[in-house]
Amino acid sequence: MSKVTAAITAVGKYVPDYVLTNKELETLVDTNDEWIVARTGIKERRILKDKDKGTSFLAIKAAEDLIAKKDLNPKQIDLVIVATATPDMQAASTASYVATKIGAVNAFSFDLESACSSFIYGISVASQYIETGRYKKVLLIGADKNSSMIDYTDRATCIIFGDGGGAVLFEPDIEGNGFQDEYLRTDGSGRQFLQVPAGGSLMPATKETVKNGLHYARQDGQTVFKNAVFNMADVCEKILDKNNLTNNDIAWLVAHQANKRIVEATARRMKLDASKVMLNIQNYGNTTSATIPLLFADYEKQLKKGDDLVIAAFGGGFSWGAIYFKWAYNS
Ligand code: UT7
Repeated sequence: MSKVTAAITAVGKYVPDYVLTNKELETLVDTNDEWIVARTGIKERRILKDKDKGTSFLAIKAAEDLIAKKDLNPKQIDLVIVATATPDMQAASTASYVATKIGAVNAFSFDLESACSSFIYGISVASQYIETGRYKKVLLIGADKNSSMIDYTDRATCIIFGDGGGAVLFEPDIEGNGFQDEYLRTDGSGRQFLQVPAGGSLMPATKETVKNGLHYARQDGQTVFKNAVFNMADVCEKILDKNNLTNNDIAWLVAHQANKRIVEATARRMKLDASKVMLNIQNYGNTTSATIPLLFADYEKQLKKGDDLVIAAFGGGFSWGAIYFKWAYNS
């Protein structure tokens, strides 16, 4: 019997309508369009303005897009994983709500949280449920309403982040497509450099935490940047070596969109031509868990069956990794 691999068989996406441009940010903080474009590659990002909607809204919309495109009966979905760093609320999982709302009534569901690496770790988890033969249809959604934790007076963070959601469906494949190998890492000594200090069990919300802005994301940009460049490139090289691959074998680098310079530095270390590097950071900024599925959705028409991909991410924690993956369909 052929080995079962976990292939992506459909993708979907959603970004909110509101466009937050660099020009508008110039009215909020001391920054300018030229600086933001040169240092990050970002031109605009999408923001979910509705006060009564959380990350689940983005996740549901992305999943519904996939379900419609694939003409999928949601009752057939076995498992829904929502990768997110901004769940709707503590204690009640966002995934439970999302699964019910999309009609995945026969599925169980859970959230998976590891900052900007949530989606890449989600690929690892979803793939194993398929490879073991336990489930046939696993829906992995990456969604984040980053605007819910951004201080729009802090130029170190507000220029970078945006809101969005993307979804992929995993199904068994007997032609060898889909998940091939992974190299995943974490280093907890990095957590001080990128975090939302309050609101969790370590520092519950008080009047003081609110007054002191401790519910906003904070980062030491330069330290995160240096670690991201070094570590993302390192795992990408390792996954190539481990699988006896060269730059010529790789069709696409699918890298977390945190900063265009981080993605380009990783591509340079892999000796990859710029034409093989997926980029959409200019349109959405850093959407945390949604960057990778948004890339799949935006590049879906250019992806070909059998394409060898390196998927990579780096984020808070620190957490990072690279996955070697074969695309399974032509659209
Ligand atoms: O998903 C994972 C999470 N996050 C990341 O991966 C983010 C990683 N870090 C970054 O992307 C970059 O560090 C930033 C985009 C946040 C900052 O870019 P940078 O090239 O590291 O800038 P910097 O902090 O070294 O600052 C350079 C200069 C400074 O001015 P001086 O001291 O050279 O005069 C800053 O004060 O740029 C100034 N600056 C700004 N100027 C205009 C810093 N932020 C801004 C700004 N607009 N928004």
